[in-house]
Amino acid sequence: MARNIYGLDLGTYEIKVFDKKKDRIWREKNVIAMKDKRYIFSIGDEAYEMYEKAPDNIQVVFPMKNGVITHFDDMQYLLGNLLKTDRQFSRGSEYVIAVPTDVTEVEKKAFYDLVLHSEAKAKSVRIVERGLADAIGFGADIMNEKGLFIANFGGGTTELSVLSYGGLVLNRLVKIGGEHFDSAVASLVRHNEEFLIGRLTAERLRREFGVFDEDTGRRFTVFGRDLLTGVPSQMDVRISLVRAAMKEPLEECVRAIRSMIDRTPPDVRRGIEAKGIYLTGGIANLRGLSTYLEESIGLPVTTVPDPELCAVKGLQKIILSKAYYKKLTYSMLDEDYRWLR
Ligand SMILES: Nc1ncnc2c1ncn2[C@@H]1O[C@H](COP(=O)(O)OP(=O)(O)OP(=O)(O)O)[C@@H](O)[C@H]1O
Ligand SMILES: [Mg+2]
Repeated sequence: MARNIYGLDLGTYEIKVFDKKKDRIWREKNVIAMKDKRYIFSIGDEAYEMYEKAPDNIQVVFPMKNGVITHFDDMQYLLGNLLKTDRQFSRGSEYVIAVPTDVTEVEKKAFYDLVLHSEAKAKSVRIVERGLADAIGFGADIMNEKGLFIANFGGGTTELSVLSYGGLVLNRLVKIGGEHFDSAVASLVRHNEEFLIGRLTAERLRREFGVFDEDTGRRFTVFGRDLLTGVPSQMDVRISLVRAAMKEPLEECVRAIRSMIDRTPPDVRRGIEAKGIYLTGGIANLRGLSTYLEESIGLPVTTVPDPELCAVKGLQKIILSKAYYKKLTYSMLDEDYRWLR
C-alpha cells in the first residue's frame, strides 16, 4: 500500500487527525473504556459517552492529563485502533505531530515514541511546536509577522505562545482547561445546591449557556443526585452559578496572559498590541469569552473559526507545503536536534 502522511494533534480531550491521502480531518475523544481493568471495552467518542454511566466493572480512562501522556500503553492502543477503525492505517507512513512546547524533554519524547513505536510502524515522525501549527492554522503569515499572541484554550491546558518572524519567543503551558472548568462548576453546584452532578453534566451546562454574554436569570435543568435525600432527581441551575464557578480558573489564565505580555520584548509587544490576541482551542467556542478577555486584558481578542481544529489545520498546511515542512518540522533523532531548540 502506498505511504501516507498523517498530521496528529493529540489533545487531552480529543485526538485530531489530518489524512493526506484522503485530504480529510477527523476527530475522536481521547478516551478508552476497560472491562475488569483488563479488556478494552470501547474507545473514542463511544467510550466518552459511557463516562459516569457505565457499571462498576467498566473503567473509563483518559490517557492524557494536562496536555501530556500519563497512560502510555493505553494511549498507544487507542491511537493504533482509531487509525485502524478508520481504515486508513497504512504501515510505513510519515507522521507530523503537534506538541506543546513548555513540557519536559521526557514528556515530549513520549509523544514521539508513542507514534514511532506504535503498531503503525511509522517510517518517520516529525514534530511541530503547537503554537506554530495554530498560527498557520488560522492563516497567519508567520514568517513576516513581528508579533503574534495565541492563547489555545483546550480540554486540559491553556497554551500561551508569542511568535515573531516564524519563531516562538515565549511559551507557557498553563494547567487549566475544560476539565478544570467542569469540575469547578460541579463543585459549586454541590456546595450551593447540595446537589451532585457529574463531569459530563457540568460540561453540558458550560456549553449550553453563553456563560459570559447572557442574562443572569437563565436556568437549565440537569439530572443528578440530591445530597440531602440521596435520591436521583433533577434541578434547575442558574447561569450565574456557572459563571461564578468559571471565574476563578479563568482569572488564573488571565493573569498568565498578562504576565506573558509583560515579559514580551517591547518591539514584539507593539505588534501584539496592534493585532491583539488570537483564541484557539475548544474552549474558545464559549460565547462571550472573547469579550470577557478583551475587558480584562485591555487588548483586542479574536476567536478564530473552528478554534478546536486550528492546530490540525495548521498541520495540514505544513504537510502540504514543502517550505513549511522543511522549516518547521524536526525529528528528535536529528543529530542537530539540540541545536535547533
Ligand atoms: N462549542 C463548544 N462550546 C463550549 N466548549 C466547547 C465547545 N466545543 C468544545 N468545547 C470544549 O473544549 C474542550 C476541548 O478543546 P480541545 O479539543 O481544544 O482540547 P484538547 O486539544 O483535546 O486539549 P489540550 O489541548 O488541552 O490537550 C472541552 O473541554 C470541550 O468541552
Ligand atoms: Mg489542544
